[in-house]
Amino acid sequence: MGRKTILFLFAAVLMAYNAYTPVPDGIEEPWRLVWEMTQMKMMTDLVWMAELLGINHFMDSMVFLMSLHNVPPTSDENVDVMDTTFNSVPVRVYVPKRQSETLRRGLFFIHGGGWCLGSAAYSPYDVLSRRTADRLNAVVVSTNYRLAPKHHFPSQFEDVYNALRWFLQQDVLSNYGVDPERVGVSGDSAGGNLAAAVTQQLIKDPDVKIKLKIQALIYPALQALDLDLPSYRENSHGPILSRSVMVRFWSEYFTTDQSLEKSMLFNQHVPMESTHLFKFVNWSSWLPERFKKGHIYKNPVPGSSELGKKYPGFLDVRASPLLADDNILRHLPLTYIITCQYDVLRDDGLMYVTRLQNAGVQVTLDHIENGFHGAFSLHKLKISNRLENKYMRWLMENL
Ligand SMILES: *[C@@H]1O[C@H](CO)[C@@H](O)[C@H](O)[C@H]1NC(C)=O
Repeated sequence: MGRKTILFLFAAVLMAYNAYTPVPDGIEEPWRLVWEMTQMKMMTDLVWMAELLGINHFMDSMVFLMSLHNVPPTSDENVDVMDTTFNSVPVRVYVPKRQSETLRRGLFFIHGGGWCLGSAAYSPYDVLSRRTADRLNAVVVSTNYRLAPKHHFPSQFEDVYNALRWFLQQDVLSNYGVDPERVGVSGDSAGGNLAAAVTQQLIKDPDVKIKLKIQALIYPALQALDLDLPSYRENSHGPILSRSVMVRFWSEYFTTDQSLEKSMLFNQHVPMESTHLFKFVNWSSWLPERFKKGHIYKNPVPGSSELGKKYPGFLDVRASPLLADDNILRHLPLTYIITCQYDVLRDDGLMYVTRLQNAGVQVTLDHIENGFHGAFSLHKLKISNRLENKYMRWLMENL
């Protein structure tokens, strides 16, 4: 039997197996979600299988499948859309068409996709940026960045930071008719991670004079040290984002060497020399009581020093913004965070809320009880609309 035949048989078995996927209680439109999950699960399982059989690298197949949903920059009756570069980084810019008597808001948006996937051109992101520009009368810059596994940390961070620094220049803002007092950063998932990281970096950067007014983080990933938080335990099989896929994304961000992925799966990747950092991600200290229920805190077991030496990225504050100390946090702008109950990344967001509040930063948390990771981008589901409305309302009032 050829490898392609095996793949085909595997697909048939998967289809039968995945046709019934339980979803958590209280989720609205469960059948639509089951349908979305079935498609996604089949896709990732097939892609995984193709990798095991040596046909194609997991991320290469995923990039290809997602790129089928990319759209060209197309202006509509409300918004002008164009692709350009900021500091050599490709970005897509959305400018409202209607006349504006005042300067506009500016929003710098960073897409998600586990640092490996996604693009400003990906249809759900294109739609979101278009609507944001129109509804908020804002100039939206949706940035691209180099992706793993071809490029590892800190390339992603640096691209985003370089594009943002370009945007935050007085003459660039005024070219686009943006009010320098009303510029914000936003991102979802890995984009939320990059948004939090660049917002912290700006505080340390004396060359940038224009300050951000807000940061908005949609189910962000904020630390790679403890991958056994209650939210990882409760949602290890999804919906949408499973623990194993998240671990794969985290490890690919730093290296394609699978020894890091393996250690991360066992939560034994932080070397002994760095165990003092655990206090920054100690869910026993930072999670609100109700999210700790039924869980017992275990100090993660220290791993080999070699991993930490070879791939210091996962211990870097630019990859794990929760590692920042209060002296930095206290200078952060007004913050908006969305967390979803059924999401491995839920507790990253919740811990950041506590840490920011303790540092005196004003934070609005929208915790979505029946939400799940990726809900924002599933435009066919009602929940996507509900999240988007909350997000837009907050931006309307605060940006
Ligand atoms: C985490 O916090 C708990 C209680 O707040 C404490 O007992 C434990 O030693 C802490 N662990 C680390 C590694 O900071």
